[in-house]
Amino acid sequence: MIKKLNNTFRKDIEKQIIEKIKKVTKKDFDSLLNLQEQIGDEWFSLDEANQTTIGSELYFLDEENQTYHKLLNDISEQLDMDFYFQKTVTIRAHPYYHNSTYWYHLDTNTFNQHPEQYNVFIPITTEDVGFSLVPDWFTKLSLILTNNDIKKLDKRKFLTNYKWYRNICRWVGKDYNNLEDTLVWNSDKHLHTALPRNNTNRFSLDFRLLPVDHDTNHKYESISPHQRRVVEYKPGSFFSSKTIRETINN
Ligand SMILES: [Fe+2]
Repeated sequence: MIKKLNNTFRKDIEKQIIEKIKKVTKKDFDSLLNLQEQIGDEWFSLDEANQTTIGSELYFLDEENQTYHKLLNDISEQLDMDFYFQKTVTIRAHPYYHNSTYWYHLDTNTFNQHPEQYNVFIPITTEDVGFSLVPDWFTKLSLILTNNDIKKLDKRKFLTNYKWYRNICRWVGKDYNNLEDTLVWNSDKHLHTALPRNNTNRFSLDFRLLPVDHDTNHKYESISPHQRRVVEYKPGSFFSSKTIRETINN
């Protein structure tokens, strides 16, 4: 399943991002799409987890944040579903001429995240989004051919696919370049990647949802080398301890 939802809070969140960046950099600018040339390249250097310096200043959408609650409640209504939610949203700020994240992966199989979770992707800049999603049939085929270990198709684990495999993914996948809507998909069904980019920045949110009824028998500990601590993909750890509807009704 890939669903497109109304991106109801895009402008609101964009405004909060702009305010925060102005405060942190003490610089004025008029567009997020070309932010890098307005505030300087140093804000877009990458750490080992591929997060930019400016991106690491933008973890303000968390469990306590009212905008995040409203956004989640809106998604819950649009999906007609209650869920636990990722405690802190990742706001990504992709730099110019960026290609190191051009790596198809599956959050469940690659990172050991919960197989019943959903991914949410929300564009904040809506031009040059550069996102690619692979259909479920090809994702399933990849899992079957690798005996359920899609990392076998990585040339460098957690970083780069074999080029021939990446080319097939790109060919069967769908590119999203002009995107206003929010995308939601089953984490175990769609390989995805950010695509290489030229001289624009992309701002986007991503986070994960876990349905109220989910398998609680397994311990899903992260195997990502980018995380310094053990992350368990369960409510009260990586996910909120209350569902969004419980949170709103309290
Ligand atoms: Fe991902």
